[in-house]
Amino acid sequence: MASQDRFLLAGVMGYPVMHSRSPKLHNYWLEKHGLLGAYVPLAIQPEGLLAALKALPALGFAGCNITVPHKVAAMPAMASIDPVATRIGAINCVTVRPDGSLHGSNNDGFGYIASIRERFPDWRAEAGPIVVLGAGGGSRAVVAALADAGAREIRLVNRTRGKAERIASDYGAPVVVQDWEQRADAVADAAMLVNTTSLGMHGQPALDMPLDRLPASALVSDIIYIPKETQLLAAARARGNRTVNGLGMLLNQARPAFRDWFGILPEVTPELRAMIEASIPA
Ligand code: ATR
Repeated sequence: MASQDRFLLAGVMGYPVMHSRSPKLHNYWLEKHGLLGAYVPLAIQPEGLLAALKALPALGFAGCNITVPHKVAAMPAMASIDPVATRIGAINCVTVRPDGSLHGSNNDGFGYIASIRERFPDWRAEAGPIVVLGAGGGSRAVVAALADAGAREIRLVNRTRGKAERIASDYGAPVVVQDWEQRADAVADAAMLVNTTSLGMHGQPALDMPLDRLPASALVSDIIYIPKETQLLAAARARGNRTVNGLGMLLNQARPAFRDWFGILPEVTPELRAMIEASIPA
């Protein structure tokens, strides 16, 4: 064990937060790298958020993750916010700088792209039209990352069209909006289909997404990881499409956060993935 002058601290602020897999993930890396420290779930209610963030430097925290419902509300407490997070309009990571000021970032988009590339290294964002279902916070991170990765056409389809139009006007090209009712046709010549809605998640209604017109060559991804295989992914796999679930996004978004806090970029190993998978209901 390296000699350390203090116990390393980080955590995740959310409410509810006990379901988060992030403590398992970061504590695995702390131990793996011989670092004395802990990553803890911080159950913070909205009215306590700003005080909790302000307390991070005094408590000696290296930083924390931010999850539901605080990803937007935490932003005013930041002394600086990186351009990617500014564009997404939300942060999922706070780093305490040496002078005690707070820096906000958002690694969800990085995690998303990394999760696709780790499964399919030859994947290319510019391979053809990409259809993205949903226009919430998850969608904003995924769409920004796909655009930055070189996507030429991102068809954004959302039940509430106005929310998709807001993303299109915030991001500009290559985002185009199509009606939710047109989703079955929107995938006709698509290279990729991504679900960022909450439909299909454990405890949520199913996603009704006909795949008849989707090319067999298309990649289908879902940012949901509970259950491990959503009905969308099961249906896509059954007809021969390549699929990626949301677990890789969770695992990979954590890597740059750990690096920013503790100075080491950790790896997503098969052992780590298996450990987190084992904690998720089938
Ligand atoms: P997150 O920040 O995790 O993306 P969110 O902001 O609550 O979550 O967004 C949830 C997404 O799922 C939205 O795109 C939402 O569509 P609306 O913008 O129309 O609300 C979508 N969604 C949730 N329930 C839905 C349903 N029953 N039918 C269609 N879309 C649904």
